[in-house]
Amino acid sequence: MSERFTVSLTGHSSSGDDIQITPAQPDDLDAILEIEKGSFSDPWSRQGFEDALKYEYSALFAARVHDQVAGYCCLYHIMDEGEIVNVAVAEAFRSRGIGERMLKEMLRFGMSKGVKRFILDVRVGNAPAIKLYRKMGFCPLVLEKNFYESPLEDAWLMELKV
Ligand SMILES: CC(C)(COP(=O)(O)OP(=O)(O)OC[C@H]1O[C@@H](n2cnc3c(N)ncnc32)[C@H](O)[C@@H]1OP(=O)(O)O)[C@@H](O)C(=O)NCCC(=O)NCCS
Repeated sequence: MSERFTVSLTGHSSSGDDIQITPAQPDDLDAILEIEKGSFSDPWSRQGFEDALKYEYSALFAARVHDQVAGYCCLYHIMDEGEIVNVAVAEAFRSRGIGERMLKEMLRFGMSKGVKRFILDVRVGNAPAIKLYRKMGFCPLVLEKNFYESPLEDAWLMELKV
């Protein structure tokens, strides 16, 4: 079981202020879809992102580097629960602190909406993502057998209480 964790949202890793994290706009969707297709074997459709932009209980953030969309993340939040449902950084922009910056922004946003518990699913073999989530304070909660398809793989359900 995970423990209650006080996430530190201060300080940014590397690369400085050429990285901007802002709510995504409809015009960002082409770039977001390209990153999505390059990052996942089972990518979301455009409709998935359009829904994320539309609903009151969802938030889609984009990371920009000199106005180019370099990554995005998506949160669904209902009452005090938030689920991070999508996170990706374009391959050319990875390992520059963008994923960490986006997640911190997303957690800060969720907390401002009253979220007290964040959850997410991650492939057990996705070491970079698991390391990132652990760095943010997430802990593995449940092993979900055969959760993902193409390829079939177990997932960790991870949790962060703030
Ligand atoms: C996971 C992902 C979003 C990380 O984004 P990123 O911008 O490269 O990550 P950051 O540079 O912010 O790294 C932050 C931390 O994540 C971890 N991390 C990131 N890349 C890593 C790698 N290749 N190997 C090990 N740890 C890694 C480290 O803990 C790192 O902190 P550190 O530099 O102090 O060690 C990115 O690799 C990605 O888009 N992967 C493909 C899509 C995906 O798997 N999304 C998650 C789905 S659940």
